[in-house]
Amino acid sequence: MAKITVITGRGGAGKSTFTTLFARFVKIDKLLLIDLDPDSSLPKMAGVDLEREGKLTVSEALYDIMVKDRKDDAPTLIEQRLRDGSIIYKGQKFDLITLGTKIAPGCYCLPDEMIRDMIQTLKENYDLVLVDSPAGLEHLNRKVTPDVDDLFVILDPSDKSVKHIERVKKVIKGVNITYRNFYLVANYRYTQENIKYLEASGERVLGSISYDQNIRNLNLNGQSLFLLPSDSPAVISVKKILAEANYDIV
Ligand SMILES: Nc1ncnc2c1ncn2[C@@H]1O[C@H](COP(=O)(O)OP(=O)(O)O)[C@@H](O)[C@H]1O
Ligand SMILES: [Mg+2]
Repeated sequence: MAKITVITGRGGAGKSTFTTLFARFVKIDKLLLIDLDPDSSLPKMAGVDLEREGKLTVSEALYDIMVKDRKDDAPTLIEQRLRDGSIIYKGQKFDLITLGTKIAPGCYCLPDEMIRDMIQTLKENYDLVLVDSPAGLEHLNRKVTPDVDDLFVILDPSDKSVKHIERVKKVIKGVNITYRNFYLVANYRYTQENIKYLEASGERVLGSISYDQNIRNLNLNGQSLFLLPSDSPAVISVKKILAEANYDIV
């Protein structure tokens, strides 16, 4: 049964970067990555071209089922798409399921619900399910992951960030999400000086991610963060953070 780890935080904080480096350096046999962000930057960062692989996002598959084919038994048909491999990428280091962009009107309630069910079924087959979240709190409100082992909140240095910690805690309590560990991670914009503000929250601060020009360059060229050299500043700091949270590192 897989451990469930969720990476959350405000927009642009560095969630997808952290998730990608997590996936690259965690020592685990069977890893499932879930990209819950409709903006879907994780696949590219992790070096996966879904289109070239012939894979659909969950939102695309739902669109085909409900809008194009006008079928109404979406849950059964989505389950079928999962089994036949059309909505799951299978790689050497990890497998990947993405929410994707919804082009029909309405909220992400249904695709979120589908992914929640998939995680419940698939967690039997993996050692770790690692979830990259969209900005904000909606995925928590919708309880896409009702039982979390480790919740990592990536924070930028602002008063809004500190308020964000309180909001995350309120929502998970309000909707009754259970978790074992609540971890704060300072992003690359923090200085040693202002990390004190995070420590004052009383929550466990695992450390900070170093600024890394190589990340900027790779992102600019749309290249995978799996190409980052292993002595790159962010790599070193992320490995340290993962070790603090008791993950084995490759
Ligand atoms: N350690 C870092 N050093 C320098 N830039 C970074 C670092 N981490 C992230 N970034 C930059 O910050 C931006 C947002 O990162 P991203 O991981 O996509 O955030 P999120 O997923 O929280 O929206 C990206 O443009 C990325 O290049
Ligand atoms: Mg992201």
